[in-house]
Amino acid sequence: MEIQEHSVTTYRVWDPVVRWFHWINVLAVIALSAFGTAILFSKELGMTNDGKVLLKVLHVSCGYVFAANLLLRVVWAFIGTPHARWRALLPSVRALGQGEWRERRQYIGHSPLARVSVTLMLAVLLAMACTGLVLAGTDIYFPPLGPWIAEWVAAAGVAPADVLPYRPDLVDAAAYREMLAFRSPFVLVHEYGFYVLMVLVVGHIGGVAVSEVRNGGALVSAMFTGRKLLSKPPEDG
Ligand code: HEM
Repeated sequence: MEIQEHSVTTYRVWDPVVRWFHWINVLAVIALSAFGTAILFSKELGMTNDGKVLLKVLHVSCGYVFAANLLLRVVWAFIGTPHARWRALLPSVRALGQGEWRERRQYIGHSPLARVSVTLMLAVLLAMACTGLVLAGTDIYFPPLGPWIAEWVAAAGVAPADVLPYRPDLVDAAAYREMLAFRSPFVLVHEYGFYVLMVLVVGHIGGVAVSEVRNGGALVSAMFTGRKLLSKPPEDG
């Protein structure tokens, strides 16, 4: 069988900040999802309170790396290279409206459909980072909010710095109930955000695979090398 070779042109697209962000984010999300799932099923796993605290400390430690990495990416979207900026990331109503995405076109940056997927993922990741930081404070009294939360719930005669998770004897019952009511919407968003993120991640991996098979471009290796290989003149050239 004859395989027709097309000549390809190499385009620089993803700068080192984008590539490091992407792979650190992948590793952090895998670790956070694994620890998070264990937290969700801690009762079924028969974990002790000390075991749960350890899981949460590990989850939150990965969470800080994840949140700092995400913050850097958001800043980079304002000041970075052209393909890293919001203009190249946020969905283009014009491209979607004209149905450009249905045709086999090649792009140096994201395709119109990929922009929608990336924007949704960034929004959910930001929601996970913000709610996670609130939970770190309200659950195990970790920074940035932990010291204030401990001050809020500490029982009379207990120093806020001595308040510990799973120690009802160290907290004021009424203040603790109020604090639980305050944190409950954050728990809800964090948990459902996790489910939505898992769906988006599957869509993202599937989308990359389909696009690579249909349109080429060496998308996966581009996230390592920074370069795409295109056989047609790109739409966003
Ligand atoms: C993509 C990122 C993240 C994923 C996929 C994720 C996933 C999860 C899941 C599945 C749970 C268990 C559900 C629940 O108990 O509500 C959880 C709980 C938790 N997460 Fe995350 N998380 C992420 C980011 C973060 C960050 C950035 C932090 C803080 C720095 C954080 C702090 C916490 C805490 C403290 C809990 C325990 C909450 C509780 O048991 O009430 N998470 N996370």
